[in-house]
Amino acid sequence: MSSQENAIIRLEDYRAPAFQIPRISLDVHLAPHDTRITATLEIEPSSQNRSALILDGDGLALLEVHLNGERLDKDSYEASPSRFELKQTPQAPFTLTFVTCLNPEANSTLMGLYRSSGTYCTQCEAEGFRRITYFLDRPDVLSIYTTRIEANEAEAPVLLGNGNPVEHGQIEGTGRHYAVWHDPHPKPAYLFALVAGKLARLTESFTTRSGRAVELGIYVEPGKEHMCGWAMDSLRRSMIWDEEVFGLEYDLDVFNIVAVSDFNMGAMENKGLNIFNDKYVLADEETATDQDYAHVEAVIAHEYFHNWTGNRITCRDWFQLCLKEGLTVFRDQEFSSDMRSRPVKRIADVRLLRSHQFPEDAGPLAHPVRPRAYKEINNFYTATVYEKGAEIIRMLKTLLGAEAFRKGFDLYVERHDGTAATIEEFIACFAGASGRDLTQFARWYDHPGTPRLRADVHHDAEAGRLTLTFTQELSKAAQDAGCNAFEIPVSFGLIGPDGRDLPLERGDGGPEGVLVLTEQRQSFTFEGIFDKPLPSLLRGFSAPVKLEAGLTPADLLMMLRKDSDPFNRWQAGQDLATRELMRLYEEARRGGTLACDMALVNALGDVLGNEDLDHAFRAQILALPGEADLARDIGSNVDTDAILAARKTLRQAIGRQHGALLADMVIRLDDSGPFRPDAASAGQRALKGLCLSYAAASGLPETPELVARAVRSAGNMTDRLAALTAAVHEGLPVAEEALLSFEARHGGHALAMDKWFTVQATRPHPSALTTTDSLTHHAAFDWFNPNRVRALIGAFATGNQSQFARADGAGFIFAAEAIKRLDPKNPQVAARLLTVFRSWKAYEPGRAALAEAALKSIAAQPDLSRDCSDIVERCLA
Ligand code: PHE
Ligand code: ZN
Repeated sequence: MSSQENAIIRLEDYRAPAFQIPRISLDVHLAPHDTRITATLEIEPSSQNRSALILDGDGLALLEVHLNGERLDKDSYEASPSRFELKQTPQAPFTLTFVTCLNPEANSTLMGLYRSSGTYCTQCEAEGFRRITYFLDRPDVLSIYTTRIEANEAEAPVLLGNGNPVEHGQIEGTGRHYAVWHDPHPKPAYLFALVAGKLARLTESFTTRSGRAVELGIYVEPGKEHMCGWAMDSLRRSMIWDEEVFGLEYDLDVFNIVAVSDFNMGAMENKGLNIFNDKYVLADEETATDQDYAHVEAVIAHEYFHNWTGNRITCRDWFQLCLKEGLTVFRDQEFSSDMRSRPVKRIADVRLLRSHQFPEDAGPLAHPVRPRAYKEINNFYTATVYEKGAEIIRMLKTLLGAEAFRKGFDLYVERHDGTAATIEEFIACFAGASGRDLTQFARWYDHPGTPRLRADVHHDAEAGRLTLTFTQELSKAAQDAGCNAFEIPVSFGLIGPDGRDLPLERGDGGPEGVLVLTEQRQSFTFEGIFDKPLPSLLRGFSAPVKLEAGLTPADLLMMLRKDSDPFNRWQAGQDLATRELMRLYEEARRGGTLACDMALVNALGDVLGNEDLDHAFRAQILALPGEADLARDIGSNVDTDAILAARKTLRQAIGRQHGALLADMVIRLDDSGPFRPDAASAGQRALKGLCLSYAAASGLPETPELVARAVRSAGNMTDRLAALTAAVHEGLPVAEEALLSFEARHGGHALAMDKWFTVQATRPHPSALTTTDSLTHHAAFDWFNPNRVRALIGAFATGNQSQFARADGAGFIFAAEAIKRLDPKNPQVAARLLTVFRSWKAYEPGRAALAEAALKSIAAQPDLSRDCSDIVERCLA
């Protein structure tokens, strides 16, 4: 490995580019094994620049170079696959033309130009454009692109590029045709894209609120057009929402989305030409679950929203990744909240944050939301940058209030449109618009780790005075850097003895219902409070912290029943369940017999049958913390088998105690009308599925029949998957029939078969490893397809904690072997899978040693990619 490949890139080393490339034109001659790219770059040295031009490349084969139209001989430049240097760089603007040749068919990394089921497509974020031609492949170099695409017409009747279509035609006598696209908006190279292939199209017209006519297109494999309706509907709603809520309109004549089946990530916001993992486009009742529908809606919105937050205003450098990602996640979360139930969406988002981001932040892969150094940028598309990044924006809005937040956002768009911005510039807009000093707030970007927050309550009944004292404890990394306190908004209410919120009078002018913490230790006093209230703190999860509020079980039961804040109501239920699961876990560790606290089991039964609560919300309350949630809360010396035992015990107790109610609800919640994907119908199915899973866990004699009926009667994918999961995970007699009939029904549909793989890989049972291993030989499995790998191997490693972390280490070895096998073909997918080891130090010593050995076997792999070596080195450090 060369020293360049091992280099650490640091934020403090940032320098403005010595050259700009205001315009580039590309002429792309597509052929499966021999694609020719002619790229003409208009280059301008920045003033006082005397340095030689050095461009990025990655695996390039250079055929020709021309300077101002004249072919250069080999003495005037130095070119390697990863670098081009022009020895005598002109001082005045000049053009450089490169002819490179590529083999898209052989590109298994899915970066740069590749083919997916015969369709040519590109992926350039973060640094894929340099696999197409030599360029200043950095986000602060913005260019206007003109792209001519030429291909065999029979092989690729559809030719798509960024921006607006300009021209197209046949090349007579050759069977080839071409299309020219022009994108008037300057953009960094990571937003470049082209697509060519045999694709079917769904179109719709949209008129922006200022009257611009936009043609919307969704392109998919022929025969799948009927599965694009939901994506199109989601796109239309996203466009309207961004106009109404953020005042942002679309800015081109066309907006195209293409679904491909081989894609490393979820989707990509290329200007005017979003490219999607087909998992986030295709949906119908036969093959997609309600969750899939929700994901399609959210991802379509996310990519569309990037048109402003990411594309019109992009990032100066990759350290600022959260500038576009955190903000855009926040925007898509708000969109989904408006489309569905806000509290249920918030609960789902917090679950995700806690299960993915908190563990990341507590282990060897922890990093600030804005990292200061990286070895491989692809490894920083993390839950911390995305989800914690979104939490920072949410806190900003809570602190400023909706109005000032919107003013700050408008200022950001006004000031930075067309530029590559930084976090400092972003924050300065909100400070400017609100008149607030946000210096302390901005520390959230700088330090890794989840803050701990303790709240102590003191009530003086005689004086009628309530005092809340908060103590922050930041991560060691933050403290080492001299930072002891963040600015933390704590949304709150005081619940009176009758369960209703007390009216609050505060004279300090802070945002209503929000306590703003700025000190390491800080008290707030409330007067005129004679009956002791119950403080409900961190409502809506107003900050990404771990709160310890000293609540008793009675307090939590009260909150579960009465809190006016739905989030804290849910939180109270989770806290009660967590405490009980922890107790059971300790008991299991000691080898004792496990018996459940029936007060909790009954309280959950009350929620189950409470018809005043909507279905989706009930389902969220009743879903116990996951195995990984418990592992995270236990923190060290984790025994994954004891966690599984604790959860099984509680699930069984709930199933037994409420057996009759559950069976009744499974029937009552069955909806025989036509399928509708809306939030209310989805909530009903979610609750029904949850009831079925508890019933299946009960071990009661009538259960097998109940589940068998659910398997046979399911009329849509949500119900079918719920029934299949109950049957397989509980090892019921109907499991085999359910698996076979699912396979017979969906064998030809890869995305549906992914669910079939996942169900089997996540069975919490010692057989899961052998099953998963043998499924790698199933005809529908494919080591080259990221979705298949994630559905089977990823699901086993992330969704089946007790079997991945088996005491004999066989789960670790299986995952490690898969990673070694994937790495040479697709290092990004391998590196992402490798992060499943990130919490290895928290296991009890036996498992930790086995996980470490598996990691070391990966580290010892010859020619390990930079992607994987980066992760493995940080894990073992
Ligand atoms: N920028 C994409 C998104 O968030 C994610 C992505 C990153 C896709 C890198 C591909 C490659 O929306
Ligand atoms: Zn994004």
